[in-house]
Amino acid sequence: METKKWTQLWLDYKKAYDGEGIWKIVLNGFTDSQVVVANALYEFRRGIKALTGESVLEAGKDEEQGKKLLTLTISNNDSVSKEGYHIQGSDEGILVEASDERGVLYGVFAILRQIACGKSALEVSEASSPSNPLRMMNHWDNMDGSIERGYSGESFFFEKDEIIINDRTRDYARFMASIGINGVVINNVNVKAAASYLITDRYYDQVARLSEIFNDYGISLYLSLNFASPIEIGDLDTCDPLDKKVISWWKDKMKEIYERLPLLGGFLVKADSEGRPGPFTYGRTQADGANMLADVIKPYGGIIIWRCFVYNCTQDWRDTKTDRARAGYDYFKDLDGAYHDNVILQIKNGPMDFQIREPVSPLLGGLQHTNQMLEVQIAQEYTGHQIDLCYLIPLFKEVLDFHTHCCEGKDTVADVVSGRTMGNSLAGMAAVINTGNDANWTGNDLAAANLYGFGRLSFDTDLSAEEIAKEWIALTYKLPEKEAGVLCSMLLRSREIYEKYTSPLGIGWMVTPGDHYGPSIDGYEYSRWGTYHRADHLGIGVDRTDKGTGYAQQYYEENAVMYNDPEKCPEELLLFFHHIPYTWKLKTGKTLIQHIYDSHFEGEEQARGLAADWESLKDVIPAVSFDRVKERFERQLYNAREWRDQVNSYFYRKSGIADEKGRTIY
Ligand code: GCU
Repeated sequence: METKKWTQLWLDYKKAYDGEGIWKIVLNGFTDSQVVVANALYEFRRGIKALTGESVLEAGKDEEQGKKLLTLTISNNDSVSKEGYHIQGSDEGILVEASDERGVLYGVFAILRQIACGKSALEVSEASSPSNPLRMMNHWDNMDGSIERGYSGESFFFEKDEIIINDRTRDYARFMASIGINGVVINNVNVKAAASYLITDRYYDQVARLSEIFNDYGISLYLSLNFASPIEIGDLDTCDPLDKKVISWWKDKMKEIYERLPLLGGFLVKADSEGRPGPFTYGRTQADGANMLADVIKPYGGIIIWRCFVYNCTQDWRDTKTDRARAGYDYFKDLDGAYHDNVILQIKNGPMDFQIREPVSPLLGGLQHTNQMLEVQIAQEYTGHQIDLCYLIPLFKEVLDFHTHCCEGKDTVADVVSGRTMGNSLAGMAAVINTGNDANWTGNDLAAANLYGFGRLSFDTDLSAEEIAKEWIALTYKLPEKEAGVLCSMLLRSREIYEKYTSPLGIGWMVTPGDHYGPSIDGYEYSRWGTYHRADHLGIGVDRTDKGTGYAQQYYEENAVMYNDPEKCPEELLLFFHHIPYTWKLKTGKTLIQHIYDSHFEGEEQARGLAADWESLKDVIPAVSFDRVKERFERQLYNAREWRDQVNSYFYRKSGIADEKGRTIY
């Protein structure tokens, strides 16, 4: 028997019930020569067999034998939107209505999901259309096989500067399609070395093959682009976006690219950020850079996704006026409306960098005339490296539900990034992905809940974090009710627990520089990265009010007023916006310093609770998975203890104020 080299994640369907039918396929307006439809049928066949033991006849064959019908019907009215589906079970079988091939595929995955979650095939029912037009994964995979901020092994796309294509590639596409992902950027935003050559003869054939595999599962392939390509792979000495030679170089290049990669969705660009080249070098604006590329790609229907992660990363820590949090808004707000219609700005959820707690970026909704999409990170760079359990969907929900106050009625981040606010069709969500070539794809088996969850949430932003967790558990482990409840509660508690034992009340960082795992309270305090906590013997926090850096004023008034006032500011963000004395009384009646001590003792203790809960599932979780996660919990507990003791000792030594409860602080 062939040994299984990688898991099937949530597509490893377990028997739901013993079915006794034979399924017959009926196609109305679709044909199985449509490759995405063919794959939808393949998935149905494979899934229904595993879930019910039932088989499916080849389309159009042995008609009399078929007992139940799977009917795929093209919707010829507006009732089913682009990429949406309507599935309905009945005594006859299941009807899938969709207006395009992707809708069929998503509909079939929805059927299988509902059966895995407890319905019989004939009971399935759902009408769904994607909340977001773009639902993307961003790989930070390098061509040497390493992954920037990767915690699950090496890349499964690249090895030693070559592109890998094997059965795993197809499985990856299947997993992504099953959660509604329709775009994947395969290479790191920091485009260096061999990756600059992805748009040359050296790699076209392989990239084209990859794009076909993706396309067959309804996914468009995108590449991260080196803005300095005219210099690095061309023979120009400039990449000034307004230079005629540069524009003409790009025109020729784009023509060649689309001849060789006709399925390419477009490019993701990190420019003028953390040392990457960009238009600023030539005194040009971000819009000049993005629009030039957008214009040359336009004839081919491609888009330019331009990242807003632009800030001064050579700050002097003595300078308290410069505020990294301000940078995105400062660089991009003035150019609102100047971006061409096939440009979309990709904005990280917070103004800093994927911390466990940050306010929502004021650019989201701050821009009112520009296509924009939300970027989140499911790779747990600052949230535990897929060692510590940290289910991130509650965090993403908070971001999506946030009222920006950009307009009446349609002002949440979910409204903005779905295109509802502006009525634009180029909008969506992207996640920095957490996969690698580990057997279980995500290092920690439980981190797959974030992978699954992001896809489901980007497809349907109304789903709750709990609903998503329950689905993932049912699909992945199919546990008895009580045990499923234990695991669900673990996931839902995990983010708050991680927050409790790490940096307090929105201040962020305090991580080991470079690697970003484990505590180093002053690790970034005197560095150039603009990520300071400003603790002294009296207090801690960054004054971002109108008397400080003025960052709070970047929000619309309702939010600006709230954040500006320490009494009104949500306490979980208190230290992000204010420099607060240790003796400040929080709403609980505790002083700030006592809150820091208590939350760190609690957080560590609750992490032990998570590990104990996992232990209680030993008999119902497959041993391999159980052991892998157990080992992660051992490391998490060590980490939580270090965080607790280092943070508490640091603040005790700074403030000289003892813990009221007299616990051990060093
Ligand atoms: C963070 C991360 C980098 C990454 C960058 C980005 O700073 O640490 O590794 O390149 O974000 O989003 O571009």
